[in-house]
Parts: sequence; C-alpha cells; structure tokens
Amino acid sequence: MYRTKNNGELRLSNVGEEVTLVGWVSKKRNLGSLVFIDLRDRYGYTQVLLEDEKFPITKEIRNEYIIQVKGIVQKKDVPNTKLPTGEIEVVANEVKIVNTAEQTPFIIQDDTDALEDTRLKYRYLDLRRPIMQNYLKTRAKIVRACHEYLDANDFIEVETPVLTLSTPEGARDFLVPSRMRKGSFYALPQSPQLFKQMLMVAGFERYYQVARCFRDEDLRADRQPDFTQVDIETSFLNEDEILTMTEGLIKKIFKDVKGIDIKTPLRRIPYDYCIEHYGSDKPDTRFGLELHDVKDILSKINFEAFQVARDIRAIVIPGKAKETTRKVIDNLNLHAKKFGLKGLTVLKFENCELTGSFTKFFNEDTSSLLAKALELKEDDLVLIAAGNKMRVCPCLGAIRTDYAKTLGLIKPDTYDLLWVVDFPLFDYNEDTKEITPCHHPFTQPKVEDIPKLKDHPEQVYAAAYDIVINGYEAGGGSLRIYDQNLQKQIFELLGFTEEDIQRKFGFFVNALKYGTPPHGGLAFGLDRWAMILGGTENIRDVIAFPKNLSAVCPMSNAPLPVDDAQLDDLGIQVKDEYKGK
Ligand code: AMO
Repeated sequence: MYRTKNNGELRLSNVGEEVTLVGWVSKKRNLGSLVFIDLRDRYGYTQVLLEDEKFPITKEIRNEYIIQVKGIVQKKDVPNTKLPTGEIEVVANEVKIVNTAEQTPFIIQDDTDALEDTRLKYRYLDLRRPIMQNYLKTRAKIVRACHEYLDANDFIEVETPVLTLSTPEGARDFLVPSRMRKGSFYALPQSPQLFKQMLMVAGFERYYQVARCFRDEDLRADRQPDFTQVDIETSFLNEDEILTMTEGLIKKIFKDVKGIDIKTPLRRIPYDYCIEHYGSDKPDTRFGLELHDVKDILSKINFEAFQVARDIRAIVIPGKAKETTRKVIDNLNLHAKKFGLKGLTVLKFENCELTGSFTKFFNEDTSSLLAKALELKEDDLVLIAAGNKMRVCPCLGAIRTDYAKTLGLIKPDTYDLLWVVDFPLFDYNEDTKEITPCHHPFTQPKVEDIPKLKDHPEQVYAAAYDIVINGYEAGGGSLRIYDQNLQKQIFELLGFTEEDIQRKFGFFVNALKYGTPPHGGLAFGLDRWAMILGGTENIRDVIAFPKNLSAVCPMSNAPLPVDDAQLDDLGIQVKDEYKGK
C-alpha cells in the first residue's frame, strides 16, 4: 500500500494514529537535527517531521522527490492556520524515497513569477500547483453539473464527428488533408451546429454533448483555437422555454460549483439597449458608468462634426477630472482612433461648471443642459464621442470597463448574469454594404421581421440570445430556421450561389425537406465558465494543455513540419518559403 491517508485529510481527531503518506516534497526545512517536510499530493499538504540522525536518507531528499512516510500523527504545538491539516504533523518512523526529481525550472507553488511560456513548456509541473489543480477541479464540477442536469431533464448525449465539413461560425477552419481522397480536406468543426440540427430532424428532441470545437482565429485572453462547448439542442420548445430550461442548468452549476443561489428568471436585455448603454453586447453589469445619449443637446452646438454625427454619447467618470493630465487625454484619443473615431471630447466639471477648450463651441445653455442630463458632480470627467453608433458605443464601452477597474468598482466574487436578446440577424458593413450572419446562417429571423428580409435585411432581428456573465459571453444560441425556403433565402442573401449551397450545405438543405421540427438550442463555452467560476481572466489557466497566444503548444511544440513521406501520402507539397519553419 502506498498510503493509508492522503495529505489533506488528517485532523486533531487522528492524533495517535499510525499512518502512511506519500507525496511530493514541497518544502524541506532543517531545524537542528529535525527536518520538516511539507508533503504534497492532490488533496493538500501535511507536515512531516523527521529526525536527521535516525534517517540518514533525509539528506538526499530534495524538493519534488516523491517520498513515502510511515509515522504517528501528533498535535502541533503551534498550529498553522493556513492549512486544513495545520493542527497536526506526522512524526516519521519510516521513510522511503519512491522517486527522485531534478531541480524544477520554477518552484512549485501557487505564487509564481515564472513566465507563462515556461509554465506551458513544463505544464506537467505547472499543473502540480494547487491553484491549477483547483481550476481543473472547478471545470470538472461544471461538466458534472451539466451531465447531471441534462440527463435528469431527458437530454441524450450524442457524439458528432470531428472530421467533417466546414460549419460556418464565422472563423477560419482548421483543415485536415485526406489521404484516401488526395486533394480533399476535412474541416474540424467550429461547433457541432449542423449535426445537432440533423439530430433534431432525426427526432432526438433533446440532445447534448460536451464537444470539442476548433476555430482558427486571432487568440485573446478568453479564446483558444480548440475549446469546449456544452452544446444543447431541443425540438418543440419556444425561445422562452429554452431560456427557462437553460436557467435551471445555470442555477445548478452555480449551486454545485460555488454554493451560490442564482435568482431566476434572469434579466433579458435587448442587444440595442446593451450597445447604447454599455457599449457592448456582452456588458459587465456589475457596475454603472453607463453611456448617455447627448445627441439632442450637442447636435445643436456650433461644431460641424457634431451637427452631422449620427450618434453622440457621453460617459462620466467620477472624481477623475483633476488628475486627468494631457498625457491621459492623448491616450484616450489614441484609443478612440483605434475604434475609427477622430478623437474624444474631454470636459471637466470643476467649480460647478464644465471646462475644456471644446466649450467654446457651446451655446449659452449647453453646459447647464449637459450638467443636468449627466447629473454632474464636482471633479467629474466627461468623455464624449461622436460618429457612427457602432464606433461610438464600443469605444466608450471599452473606456467604461477600463475605468471600472481603475476605480475599483468591481467587487470580487460577485456574479451578474443576464440574457442579451433580440440580436440583429446580420452584421451590416456600412462601407461595403455587405451583410454577414451575426450568429450563424441557420438562425431564425423574428417572425414579424421576415417581410423586411428582401429590402432591409439590416433591420431584421433574430430569435437569438447570449448568456452574459461579468462581461463574458458565456454562451449563445438561437431558434433555427426549419423552413427550407426561408433557409434558402438566407443563404442567397448572404451571397451563396445555388452551387455553393449544394456543395457546402447540400445534405443540410436536403434534410430540411423531410419534416424538420421547430427547434433551437445553445452552447455554453465551457472554458469561459471555468474561467469565470474559477476566478481567472486567463482561459489558458483552465485548460490542461493549452496553446499560447501564437497558437503553439510550448510543451509538445505543435504544430511542427512533417516528413516528406507523410506529405507525399497526402499529395501535399509545402511551398519552399515555409519549409523547415
Ligand atoms: P458561438 O459561436 O456563440 O455559438 O459559441 C458558443 C460559445 O462558445 C464560446 N466560444 C469560445 N470559447 C473559447 N475559445 C473560443 N475560440 C470560443 N469561441 C466561442 C463562447 C460562446 O458563447 N453553434 C453555436 C451555438 C448555437 O447556436 O447553439 C455556437 O457555436 O462562450
């Protein structure tokens, strides 16, 4: 037997017992002839006491060696209140080195200053850190809650292929060359979207899957090229029923993982409201700093750009006027430029009046009207953006979240959940006049908007919804089109030719002909849920073996060039310029 107890379970009630422990040496301290070792395993730490003279082998023991200790549990004179096992220690009678370890490239402890790429290279050591194990435990608890809830609610777990055709979720596909059909490629699924819809046609009614998804897109703190969805689809439920069913799942996850009771129904806020008030379709609603529409007041001033601007909005940052220097203002202007705006108008409310060079364009009553509308207080900083709504709002929205962090407005360990509903069906590019699906091309338009599809597709709303938690899009879904003619019309609007449709979605369009039930569903981003509930802002923390921001796995070094023989098998040739890279 390697052990009779683990390193997290001994308490005062065990005093006097003989136990055998095994684990990694986390820390070794010598105190004269006594040696204290913190022994670590998955369950925690236990302090072990060895007498140097009795066990000469002790001198050989180094950090991260695995040792086995048989000994007696005794009460500690001075308890360590930081550890659950801190009231006891184990006095060794026997010690054995189970395995040795080289010096690790960084110390295995929660608080680390190791570079992330080093941690990823030695991920198996990084994952020894208790904080990392806790992230993965949180993740596993979320998955278990999903399995339990969905199983109890009659959902059937079905696996769908990983080698498949492209599923249009808006990212680039990862392609896999076929050896049997040289020159042809599978795509890795961006999501199981088409397959789950096929399962509805097949009559499963309630499907779910913890599914790996693959998207070749620019990576961010909350994005990975391969990630996991808890993917759900139902038939014969309306939007309200789907949201209510999902709220049951959300409640269970929060209860099981965090012990928190979430009040349902959750707020449902229309997309337009979110953009206009928070500058984001995934607003962090744990704090105010909302955007204000000041077009009525400011379009009347003697400044042409404001007279013609389609949207003019302001955000008020309390108590920041005095300390906002020229340099800060320059940075704010740079920020605005990134959003395609010329700059920001910066005003300060000092000694009960608005100041700033821009006030020279004001009418007599502009200052007082603004002060009233924005409920300004002494030392408020007012930032104003004018232009196209889809530039103005996101620009101020990003400033909103930055300042919330600077001002410490976000209480840790608080969760604010909402549904964002009534998304537009399409994203509309004003410059190119092109439309692209806001979610994916299978999303059901709002029934009342269907007549607008032909002439004003940009005005059509969708039966689509996202679950947003603390400013993260934690999941999203929609009702689906189940009418083959409507689906065809959408494909055509998106610019697909009949040939494209047949080639890319032939099987899907064909299936819609055979009695497709009304259906809809959604997918949770499991990694994001684990981030949010685990309390980290880095998605890589909650994935055992993630890629870095260059989409490389520093541990295995994937992706790597392959042998010419392998390429030959696939009928593929790499361009000279990429050889050996
Ligand atoms: P969507 O594309 O919104 O919808 O994805 C669903 C959820 O998956 C998460 N997510 C990601 N997480 C990590 N890394 C990524 N690269 C990444 N991309 C997405 C997000 C997102 O809300 N088939 C539809 C769902 C449906 O309509 O049922 C879909 O995939 O949390």
